[in-house]
Amino acid sequence: MSAGHRPLGILAALPQELGDLIEAMRAESGVRTVTHGQRDYHVGSVQGVSCVVTLARVGKVAAAATVSALIHAFDVEAVVFTGVAGGVGADVRVGDIVVADALMQHDLDASPLFPRFEVPLLGISRFAADPALADRLAAACARFVADEGVASAARFGTREPRVHRGLIVSGDQFVASAAAVAALREALPEALAVEMEGAAIAQVCYEYGVPCAVVRTISDTADDHAPVSFVSFLTEIAGAYSNGILKRFLAR
Ligand code: ADE
Repeated sequence: MSAGHRPLGILAALPQELGDLIEAMRAESGVRTVTHGQRDYHVGSVQGVSCVVTLARVGKVAAAATVSALIHAFDVEAVVFTGVAGGVGADVRVGDIVVADALMQHDLDASPLFPRFEVPLLGISRFAADPALADRLAAACARFVADEGVASAARFGTREPRVHRGLIVSGDQFVASAAAVAALREALPEALAVEMEGAAIAQVCYEYGVPCAVVRTISDTADDHAPVSFVSFLTEIAGAYSNGILKRFLAR
């Protein structure tokens, strides 16, 4: 993943979730912006790593379309998705970080024709993140927490962040009620976090044999407070986490 080789695709749903990545690229290598399917793909390098950075926007279709373009139009070697999520696991709190080992679509249900959650005709319900990429991402998160966790907790009024590894679930819903999060926990007890893009990225990457990894900072706990918590986390905190994690991930 060095300059001159196939680039790394880096994406988030919303601009706040990318932090200063495009500015960092502009300062280091300059940016060539290519517009494709109503999205801007920013091509350049960050810390010597050749990258294509873009915004997927929100939801599984948007994410699948964007990652498909990263694969076909930009020939990315691997894909990293960064952003926020709702905490679902019992010990997953606002300010924690979840690195996916696997991803599922919690709203996919073609039963009784196919088992609930299974992608029809693909025969898979759980998509694995690339283990080496996820390890590198988790190591970057651990370094970020060791270097900046105490300061970040004091600054943002959260507990010192913990890094979790496990199942992230995705669906085309913003989960924002005690009843909905309880139903999610009952259906998928292993789920640590819920968001709206990761499993779609993982499915497309699986189908094309492209390694992918997903990291999510917890902005809310998917309950009745989620909308307020999500908006304040997104506007005040998400960028700092993304910068801290991606900087360490890209540095060798
Ligand atoms: N992204 C961040 N918080 C979320 C939630 N509660 N539901 C779905 N996606 C999210």
